[in-house]
Amino acid sequence: MIRTLDDLEVEGTALGVRVDINSPVADGGLADDARLRAHVDTVEELCSRGGRVALLAHQGRPGDDDFTDLEPHAERLNELLDASVDYCDATFSSAARERVRNLDAGNAVLLENTRFYSEEYMSFDPADAAETHLVEKLAPTLDAYVNDAFAAAHRSQPSIVGFPTALPAYAGRVMEAELGVLGNIAESPEPRVYVLGGAKVDDSIGVARSVLERGLADAVLTTGIVGNAFLLADGVSLGAASAAVVNERSHEAVKQAGDLLDDFSHRIYMPRDVAIERDGERVEIDLDELPAEQPAMDIGARTLAAYAEILEDAGTAILNGPAGVFEDELFELGTRELFEAATRAEMSIVGGGDTAAAMRALGVKGFDHVSTGGGAALRMLTGGSLPGVDVLDQ
Ligand code: 3PG
Repeated sequence: MIRTLDDLEVEGTALGVRVDINSPVADGGLADDARLRAHVDTVEELCSRGGRVALLAHQGRPGDDDFTDLEPHAERLNELLDASVDYCDATFSSAARERVRNLDAGNAVLLENTRFYSEEYMSFDPADAAETHLVEKLAPTLDAYVNDAFAAAHRSQPSIVGFPTALPAYAGRVMEAELGVLGNIAESPEPRVYVLGGAKVDDSIGVARSVLERGLADAVLTTGIVGNAFLLADGVSLGAASAAVVNERSHEAVKQAGDLLDDFSHRIYMPRDVAIERDGERVEIDLDELPAEQPAMDIGARTLAAYAEILEDAGTAILNGPAGVFEDELFELGTRELFEAATRAEMSIVGGGDTAAAMRALGVKGFDHVSTGGGAALRMLTGGSLPGVDVLDQ
């Protein structure tokens, strides 16, 4: 059983709270604060219940441009929260431990990027993770650990899997909500319709395979490059430009799409038309007018109408990946309208990562659940387990 904040005695206790505020950065600041906003309820609740909150988080990966300190994150959290959030430029040094010990009830401190320490960028089993420097040094200053970092729960890193061995561990509100929805897809209203697109073709085809094989999907609507891979597998001659885009993304996609069509053709839907750019204009062409010289950039109106009808009657609509090059005004239509149609299903769920970013960029609102996780959400959608969740199940 996974304990939640409802089971935690908060008043006066020192809590290590793992959040995932890994965000796009630009010009030394945060380019997007969606992940910080997601944790506001958890941190606010713990502070208002008198907790002394030490926040743990990572940013970027060693060697990458976004591998930065967490000072901008602390400043932004301070603005978003009623409680005060200080920044500490160390994670488990004596100075950091002192800051945690001296925290007043109702206040929070954001400790430095956990990945500034090399152990945090390695995978451990929980028992070994509990013996890393981070956990051995910091755990004695804490009374309990809260994991709210669903988006990092697919990592076996010390800040995720080490503390639950050393301390009583609880799921925060973000974690609880994510597990409540993504962990219970099999109980969500039927018919269940998956809309699978995006540039990560192998990921979306992996989701298709998993949900079809497990009997979770009543319909899989394919869009974007994923849809094109299925069309190619079905023998449609899209043209060399579209075929090249599919092959650039994945050499396996067409073969995998073909295997799925062999087994589940009655549940897989493919585009009926595509949009291309001609003389700076959006031009929609039916499949029988193909091949086209230009690459397909979006689904067309006939596909949209057919897919929207299925989505509006869906019990659950689950979106993974945009339907086209939504960043270009000419080709945002398919993604925008499909997302809007999905909000009219009884229950609508957006997988995290690029899909949630597309939803925000297009300003589509009204989903029942928008996952904070990219890789973690994908792992759950494909039926995999998450080490950070398994270790909470005590
Ligand atoms: C994410 O952005 O998916 C999570 O924060 C995990 O980050 P990672 O892929 O660098 O481990």
